[in-house]
Amino acid sequence: MNDASRPAIRIRGLTKRFPGVTALSQVHLDVGRGEFVALSGPDGAGKTTLLRVLCGLLAPDEGEVAVLGEPVPARFGRLKRRVGYLPQRFSHYLDLTVDENIAFFARVYGVRDFGPRREALLSFTGLTPFRGRLAERLSGGMKQKLALACTLIHEPEVLLLDEPTAGVDPASRREFSEILGGLLERGMTILMATPYLDEAERCHRTLLLDHGRLLAAGPARDLKASLGVAMVEVLCRPPREAVRLLRSSPAVDRVHAAGERVHFTVRPGHAPDDVCRTLADAGVEVSPWREVSPSLEDVFIALTERPSEAPDREGSVP
Ligand SMILES: Nc1ncnc2c1ncn2[C@@H]1O[C@H](COP(=O)(O)OP(=O)(O)OP(=O)(O)O)[C@@H](O)[C@H]1O
Ligand SMILES: [Mg+2]
Repeated sequence: MNDASRPAIRIRGLTKRFPGVTALSQVHLDVGRGEFVALSGPDGAGKTTLLRVLCGLLAPDEGEVAVLGEPVPARFGRLKRRVGYLPQRFSHYLDLTVDENIAFFARVYGVRDFGPRREALLSFTGLTPFRGRLAERLSGGMKQKLALACTLIHEPEVLLLDEPTAGVDPASRREFSEILGGLLERGMTILMATPYLDEAERCHRTLLLDHGRLLAAGPARDLKASLGVAMVEVLCRPPREAVRLLRSSPAVDRVHAAGERVHFTVRPGHAPDDVCRTLADAGVEVSPWREVSPSLEDVFIALTERPSEAPDREGSVP
């Protein structure tokens, strides 16, 4: 198999344990060249552990991992220049300027004559006007763009991003996403942990990790279709009371709320009209219901439902 036809990332039976916790359990995964893949899942799911294994910082307990055809961590030394890793807590040198931070990373990676590359990255990330500013004086969004610029100085082929836009305002998140779009056009492979489902939705594929297990992988639309049921949406006031009543209703299967917007599915043989009437009879203000396609959030909630939280729902998870 030549280099270009190999997957950028190949994982077989990856297990990683820490004392008292299995952070990754029998993970299998291929990421193709040029793919943009989102890694989602609740806190502690194993996202950071997976990315750290891929960049050679943690050794697997079991399984095989290869990046760009090189076994990891055994031959990570050969990959150092071909992989970029933006950790969850990226440390800038706060007392260095934007320019100086990029120069520092260029030296760490042994990039010679990095000047033109730095100009291109500053322009690409919109940081040129701020190049003389100390990192500590940048906004959250600009800090993350600087982190990305530092991660790209050695022109990696595979980019591993750990929640690069967590806590960043929506406008900066959109700019960040456009920057990643530009990298994809140049053929880069990106694996990005993200807590934002709208970001996951824009990726070619989404992976869902929970308790170290890969529960699902696929394009967002396929994951939604895999739920196999239509969701009912109603606006409810107060939503907490509506959720409590719906959870205890034998007619209702899955429930979740985002503010006053409540999504639920009805079990066979039951009708949304009857469910809404029950809510209204109990004093909940409820809008007319409508059918909506499941959101990625609906899928994730269905897949990560714990038996202890849903005692009578065994078998409802696809
Ligand atoms: N160095 C470590 N030593 C011991 N336990 C660890 C270590 N790193 C991670 N863990 C544990 O492994 C599990 C997975 O952690 P990980 O940081 O990979 O999750 P995550 O999905 O990145 O979570 P978050 O969304 O909070 O960043 C957790 O239970 C965590 O406590
Ligand atoms: Mg993490």
